[in-house]
Amino acid sequence: MTTPENTPAVAVQTINRGLPAGKMPELRMMPAPSDANVYGDVFGGWIMAQVDIAGSLPATRRANGRVATISVNSFVFKNPVFVGDLLSFYADIVRVGNTSITVNVEVYAERNRLQADTVKVTEATLTYVATDSDRKPRKVPPIETLLHP
Ligand SMILES: CC(C)(COP(=O)(O)OP(=O)(O)OC[C@H]1O[C@@H](n2cnc3c(N)ncnc32)[C@H](O)[C@@H]1OP(=O)(O)O)[C@@H](O)C(=O)NCCC(=O)NCCS
Repeated sequence: MTTPENTPAVAVQTINRGLPAGKMPELRMMPAPSDANVYGDVFGGWIMAQVDIAGSLPATRRANGRVATISVNSFVFKNPVFVGDLLSFYADIVRVGNTSITVNVEVYAERNRLQADTVKVTEATLTYVATDSDRKPRKVPPIETLLHP
């Protein structure tokens, strides 16, 4: 019998099958044919651009303003990405320095719209620098001063 207690848990299990439990992706994207080579494999550069955007989102919130990517520290394409995969980008801050914020990004692909087959396709670590209106580094504000860290 469906009760108010068990309905949300069942729904979440179905939706999150194969994806990290209890986490919200920063970004969800579906590559189009124009993002792929003639074999239907998505270009690494397209994936890198989306990873950069996904990682910049928690960095921007933590910096409470603009950031610039200073470094891609590591980037591993563990599995290919295909046209039509539904990609989820998870981004976690792993280090906050004086002006820099380092973010780990993991990407999962739900294959073929039925979302029965989910694989981790990419993992990367990037460093962002909080910048001022002159594009110069500025200090990352103390976390307790943020309204939405
Ligand atoms: C981002 C930018 C403003 C930083 O200015 P900078 O004078 O080079 O920076 P600094 O040497 O003062 O270093 C700033 C921070 O970045 C860190 N950093 C510098 N080089 C780094 C590297 N190779 N990897 C990781 N972190 C690095 C420093 O340790 C420092 O962190 P901290 O303050 O937390 O200790 C400048 O480099 C820039 O404009 N770069 C171009 C950004 C850009 O166009 N990005 C998009 C390209 S795709």
